[in-house]
Amino acid sequence: MSTFHPLRVTAVDSLTDDSVALTFAVPPELRPLYGYSPGQHIALRRHRAGADTLTASTEVRRTYSLCAPACDEPAELRIGVRGVEGGDFSSYAVKELRPGDTVDVLPPSGRFVLEPRKGRFAAVVGGSGITPVLSIAATLLTREPEARFCLVRSDRSTASTMFLEEVADLKDRFPDRFQLVTALSREEQQSGLPSGRLDEQRLSGLLPSLLSVPDVDGWYLCGPLGLVEEASRALRGLGVPRGRIHQEIFHVTEAPTAPSAARSAAGGVSHSASVTANLDGRSGCWPMDDGESVLETVLRHRADAPFACKGGVCGTCRVRLLSGEVRMERNYALEPDELEAGYVLACQSHPVTEAVEVDFDG
Ligand code: FES
Repeated sequence: MSTFHPLRVTAVDSLTDDSVALTFAVPPELRPLYGYSPGQHIALRRHRAGADTLTASTEVRRTYSLCAPACDEPAELRIGVRGVEGGDFSSYAVKELRPGDTVDVLPPSGRFVLEPRKGRFAAVVGGSGITPVLSIAATLLTREPEARFCLVRSDRSTASTMFLEEVADLKDRFPDRFQLVTALSREEQQSGLPSGRLDEQRLSGLLPSLLSVPDVDGWYLCGPLGLVEEASRALRGLGVPRGRIHQEIFHVTEAPTAPSAARSAAGGVSHSASVTANLDGRSGCWPMDDGESVLETVLRHRADAPFACKGGVCGTCRVRLLSGEVRMERNYALEPDELEAGYVLACQSHPVTEAVEVDFDG
């Protein structure tokens, strides 16, 4: 089971006015544990301001994507962090963290991954959604000489664009295999696309003009919910099978749905639901309080249960449902094939049957 380890910050590089790249040193004995695939992320945690002890209720966790090429035993980890208005963790990371500070970091995870292989791949990203795709593109182009990558990125302006130099470097190193198109919503460019948002209609016209859509082996969509949904609809409209579209949401603006009370199979409220959870080789069975998610119940008894966003976005709390039935409030993390295989998000799951059993290890 993954546990947090304190890692030392070795560099805080300013990327834009409101974003930084953070580098952490990984001690030699932990390096195999922190190996990662291109596109994966790490979860960080900190005390809420004023909290003396670190408990599930006082800590803040956030996931951030790794931006450097993949590595099996990394000596360092580099992530991109953009400050979000009112963002407890991101403000701290952008404004307060300094080299020499220590942060608790979970080993990498996530399934928004492209293992290098021959073929044509493409990405549509918005804002900080470039972060995992930078790792994906750099790893792919460096390791697989017969792979090509097309990146369509959008941002507000040049000044707000993260990893400009790193992306330009890919263009210089792989001029024949890396294609870059930039759309700026609030700034006219001397060359390239006219200003304006990338929406479904625009992407439906743009993508076929850039590359042969049916020949693309995998599409990687990353950024705010709106952009990812528009891009996904555009691709489906162009005939791209769902299985070739991979997506990761960075920001979900609407407020999380309030947890509803546990419901019985008939749709009524059950006051006697229980959850059995296997976690790190140990099992427990606990009654659920009304309205609790599966994760909340488990966390009351097992503080080591994995989670980060609690919002259905990061996928850290993924469990396999072994028996019973749950209803998920929302899901922006699991792909259709994972749902079919019986995975659910513990932070979004409420029981529909009197008893449910989940496996965090599966
Ligand atoms: S903790 Fe992020 S999806 Fe559940």
